[in-house]
Amino acid sequence: MDAIEAIKSRRSIRAWTGQNITDDILSQILEAGRWSPSPLNSQPWHFIVVKEKETIESLSLKAQEGSFLQFTNTCIVITVNKHNSSLTDKNDAHASLIVWLEKHDQYVYSAVCALQNMWLAAWNLGLGGCWVTVDEETTREILEIPDDQVIIGSLALGYVKGTSVPHRELDRKPLSEIVFFEKYGVRR
Ligand SMILES: Cc1cc2nc3c(=O)[nH]c(=O)nc-3n(C[C@H](O)[C@H](O)[C@H](O)COP(=O)(O)O)c2cc1C
Repeated sequence: MDAIEAIKSRRSIRAWTGQNITDDILSQILEAGRWSPSPLNSQPWHFIVVKEKETIESLSLKAQEGSFLQFTNTCIVITVNKHNSSLTDKNDAHASLIVWLEKHDQYVYSAVCALQNMWLAAWNLGLGGCWVTVDEETTREILEIPDDQVIIGSLALGYVKGTSVPHRELDRKPLSEIVFFEKYGVRR
């Protein structure tokens, strides 16, 4: 599958067959996260692989739109460092760039790239996933995530139960609606 095909055919999958995801497949998915872009190549993310049934159930109970999470046997919770101040010892210009990037939440957004990369990689490997917004407080507590980490979300994974239908053209806003030229609001 090429990149465009993967992007266009990917769907959120919320039902799985229960088939185990091998360590090899899981590594390939995590690798895709590892190769994601990030400000100054800081790679400020962490991926917590959760396979314990009880833990997954606890997360699903508190996820407002994620009760189906209980049906996966693997999910990856993505966190990102809130502060990148450990890098500030280089020089003043570098330090000020780090602060500036932090002010613009750029480190946080890089973890979104990592999640999306893993989602697409999983899709390419024949697995279906769904981004599940997990409850901040419960997830932090259950997974013992330190306060210096922002919880981005989780990627629930598995082999697709049934068939997945790609979005129809109609399901997507047309470019004419979402693209502006030169200034916000200016359409051609
Ligand atoms: C930031 C973000 C958070 C999401 N959170 C949830 C969620 O908590 N539960 C859920 O069922 N889907 C969640 N989704 C999946 C969206 O519902 C889904 O992407 C959207 O309906 C479009 O469908 P598609 O992914 O099949 O294209 C989330 C997606 C994103 C990008």
